[in-house]
Amino acid sequence: MAPEKIEYEKLIEMAVAAANRAYAPYSKYKVGAALLASDGRIFTGCNVENKNIGSGICAERTAIVKAVSEGANTFIACAVACATDYRCYPCGLCRQFLSEFGPDLQIVVREENGYSIKTIGELLPAPSLK
Ligand code: THU
Repeated sequence: MAPEKIEYEKLIEMAVAAANRAYAPYSKYKVGAALLASDGRIFTGCNVENKNIGSGICAERTAIVKAVSEGANTFIACAVACATDYRCYPCGLCRQFLSEFGPDLQIVVREENGYSIKTIGELLPAPSLK
């Protein structure tokens, strides 16, 4: 069931907790995501790096992959947080990946004094269609 009121603070807290589980021995930049699906489930993700730099995966894509593989494919909001930093916005590749599920997904980014919200359509107004 879709939640009546979106608990953004809770999503941010879950993203921070996920960030602390990140495997980021190379960049040391630990990122977490908490993705709220339309059915009310929340899927977390963290970045998982690799010796082969390009083989790593970002927190946001981890969360999406977990969600879709568990049967959720419509989403309301995705919180993103770095364990040690603020304003951790999705990278270009993640923006494209997140855009697949529609332009209205809310991207909730941790700020020093709380969080900010932009839709994925605002962050990537013209996603690739092919
Ligand atoms: N990273 C994420 O997981 N999500 C973001 O929104 C920004 C960057 C990861 C990728 C890489 O493992 C590390 O942070 C440094 O770029």
